[in-house]
Amino acid sequence: MSAAKRLPPGWWLLVLGFPLATLILVIGGFLVAAQGGFIAFQVPRDDTTTVPTDAAALERGRYLARIGDCAGCHTVRGGQPLTGGRGFASDWGVLYSTNLTPDPATGIGAWSPAEFRHALQHGVSRTGLLYPAFPFQHFQYLQQADVDAIFTWLRSQPAVVAPTPANTLEWFAGWRPVMFGWRMLFHRPLPLPPAPDRSQAWLRGRYLVEGLGHCAMCHGHRGAYGSQPLPLRFAGGRIPRQGWVAPALDGASLSHWNVADLADYLRIGMAPQGSAFGPMAEVVHSSTQYLTQADAEAMAQYLLELPPVRIAPAYRDYPLPHARSQIDVRTAALYEKHCGDCHGDDGRGQAPFYPPLAGNPQVTASDPVNLIRLTLVGAAAPTTAGNPAPHSMPPFVNRLADAELLAILNYVRGSWGNDATVISRRQLEEVRAMPVE
Ligand code: HEC
Ligand code: HEC
Ligand code: HEC
Repeated sequence: MSAAKRLPPGWWLLVLGFPLATLILVIGGFLVAAQGGFIAFQVPRDDTTTVPTDAAALERGRYLARIGDCAGCHTVRGGQPLTGGRGFASDWGVLYSTNLTPDPATGIGAWSPAEFRHALQHGVSRTGLLYPAFPFQHFQYLQQADVDAIFTWLRSQPAVVAPTPANTLEWFAGWRPVMFGWRMLFHRPLPLPPAPDRSQAWLRGRYLVEGLGHCAMCHGHRGAYGSQPLPLRFAGGRIPRQGWVAPALDGASLSHWNVADLADYLRIGMAPQGSAFGPMAEVVHSSTQYLTQADAEAMAQYLLELPPVRIAPAYRDYPLPHARSQIDVRTAALYEKHCGDCHGDDGRGQAPFYPPLAGNPQVTASDPVNLIRLTLVGAAAPTTAGNPAPHSMPPFVNRLADAELLAILNYVRGSWGNDATVISRRQLEEVRAMPVE
């Protein structure tokens, strides 16, 4: 072979390298564009915008901050409101919420309104790229006037010096720029689609449910790396690290509800169909109880019109027997002795104080973690203006042996027309091992 015909060393790099580099650039460019280009990363520091600070703006800001539950996440249990420091555990370590009081050094006292808008709408602040435990993916839908009102109200609160504890995230997750890659894969800054044929109430309900209320944060299915796939945002599922199931929220899953009862559930924490417990009781207590009747009804209307999305249930990998095959006079007697006084021997409860167990999807859910856990640890509906002295349910964790508990749980899963699968000893043990927060 002559020298002229021989290919230069590394020829394949040239031949493959060029198209490969182009492909990487095109995909990278597309993903950067899809997550909103670079606007999000330009935090406006020096800014002279002013926001209204009159009494009406303050009152509005207070209302909106409650519905956004800022204090719920930015307060440690029993701590001073809005001073941050509440830990959020994830597979990658613990992240802490920040001080939202107007202290200039440790809070938002030195922030401009534009900086605050930017943090809520883009999830980037002077701290850097924020993690999605902060609901910026929902707050991105907020109207500017609402964000400004929240800012005004926060700035009117007492300033408290409260440095945010250092996050204990794994080195890789703890390096904020890594969120740039996360955003390319999982964040899509798109406005809510126009819906000209919808009523004002529906639009308002959508704004509150999808945006400020960030309901999908618990009621959505979790994808890889803590992402929240948009089409599955109301498909329900276990809340990561909490051991509670947030049920699906859509017209079909909520078919046993109506607008008035759902609005009551959100404002009072109690309705003839069921009452709020676990994390939802906290949400009602710190946030939704303050909804105006009109806003609560708007949210209910929006939820009841959501089309259902189905995903494979967690507990269907192998066929389980029906719970009703385990029912006999002995199990009925156990139920009547321990639960019947409140929930009725017929399982119909006493509306609205003692929720029904018959026909209750919380009881027949394919993943029975809520039923087991609630029976172990007991529950109290949230204290609200509409229910100032809530009734409570005692814990049965030390009161019943495992065999008795299983007998009762399977009795309620298979009686009065309920037709769910059995709860196994393994499932009971799994829930027993969950930490009580
Ligand atoms: C579901 C919990 C949750 C809710 C609800 C929530 N936050 Fe946060 N927020 C967080 C967490 C966690 C962080 C820390 C994020 C980080 O460090 O990346 C944070 C960070 C922030 C930051 C950035 C602070 C900084 O120093 O960079 C601002 C601003 C903020 N939140 C404002 C609000 C406001 C206003 C509301 C109510 C409308 C609110 N948050 C509701 C959890 C929450
Ligand atoms: C912190 C997590 C969390 C957030 C945020 C949350 N939920 Fe829930 N929700 C739950 C859990 C857990 C349950 C199941 C326990 C119960 O029924 O009380 C639940 C139950 C419900 C139910 C009862 C469904 C049924 O079939 O019984 C409704 C309705 C509901 N949530 C609506 C909402 C709305 C609207 C929002 C937003 C404003 C919201 N939730 C925000 C965790 C949450
Ligand atoms: C002293 C009265 C009382 C007894 C006894 C009692 N419960 Fe309850 N139960 C309640 C109250 C009150 C609630 C509402 C709690 C809340 O909203 O946090 C409730 C809620 C529930 C729920 C959730 C229903 C929903 O959708 O809101 C289930 C499931 C349940 N109880 C099962 C049982 C079982 C099983 C037993 C017997 C082992 C039992 N309860 C014994 C009072 C009682």
